[in-house]
Amino acid sequence: MTTADSLIATLADLRQRALERLSLATTADLLEAWRIAFIARKGELPGLRERLPSVSKEEMPRVGQAFNATKQVLEQAYEARKVGLGGAALEAGIAGEAIDISLPGRAPLTGYAHPVKETLREIIRIFGSMGFSVAEGPEAETDRNNFELLNIPADHPSRDTMDTFYLDVPGGILLRTHTSPVQARVMLSQEPPVRIIAPGRCYRRDQEDASHLSYFWQCEGLAVDRYVTFSDLKGVLASFASQILGCKVRFRPHHFQFTEPSAEFDFSCLVCGGKGCRVCKYEGWLEISGAGMVHPQVLRNVGYDPTAVSGFAFGMGPERVTMMRYGINDMRLLNANDLRFLRQFA
Ligand code: DAH
Repeated sequence: MTTADSLIATLADLRQRALERLSLATTADLLEAWRIAFIARKGELPGLRERLPSVSKEEMPRVGQAFNATKQVLEQAYEARKVGLGGAALEAGIAGEAIDISLPGRAPLTGYAHPVKETLREIIRIFGSMGFSVAEGPEAETDRNNFELLNIPADHPSRDTMDTFYLDVPGGILLRTHTSPVQARVMLSQEPPVRIIAPGRCYRRDQEDASHLSYFWQCEGLAVDRYVTFSDLKGVLASFASQILGCKVRFRPHHFQFTEPSAEFDFSCLVCGGKGCRVCKYEGWLEISGAGMVHPQVLRNVGYDPTAVSGFAFGMGPERVTMMRYGINDMRLLNANDLRFLRQFA
């Protein structure tokens, strides 16, 4: 075998080995190692150049051609592999991150108000537009504010309708049974004119049913000034009813110790459209509020002069208004804290 033939055979062998090894170069590092081993300046292929001078002049073109052809094949194979690995690396990167940018985004979890709170906001807004500001009082009250100042003495039978939770502390502290004690607090702390509403939690040892809870909201209203009349009370409550729900109203005579005359104020039931349902106890009307003209004795109790000023007051049930607003047929749902129910109001 001539030197030329042996060199050409070596080139062929090198080419085969190099291509085999290249197919195993699956990472950028392996590819670089391959380049150094075979085609870089000190690699096997350039190394074969050292044997060229021993090739005869006549054979040189053949050998030179074989050499160049091998060089070209290996360099092209190398470039193709490099491109291939780049694509593969990209695919591997995408698979690793596993972000599907075509999916809709996840909405961040935001809080929202309980439907009764929503209703209270609306109540506050409407009365605010009629000049009432918000007053507050504690849920743990004195017997004096909750009952005595409101003309309900200790042995009075009307206490029976407000079955009370008493706290086991000195001084006759109880959980307020209504928001009316805020009336006493406000009047004790300021002179007329008074125009407030007082939203807040109240407590009674009541059997719960579709329209009663043992802890519930009330919103008290109180206006005291010169010449305040029952027509003012009717006008204010009728305006409130039409603004909040657009429903009809009626007043029924009633008795409260702290108002004279007294009334109960009903909304036409929007849950059943007046036909009768369990929310309105099949009456077509739902009691929303007690109301009346502030009793002269209550005015005297807080140091006001009933011959100089008069006032009206009311105490309404925000849960009932909420039930009507949203067509809820069981008040217990409002206290259950059940997210399956509450999420509807998000
Ligand atoms: N406090 C009464 C209750 O809980 C409701 C009420 C009636 C409040 C008449 C008032 C009022 O301010 O004037 O049953």
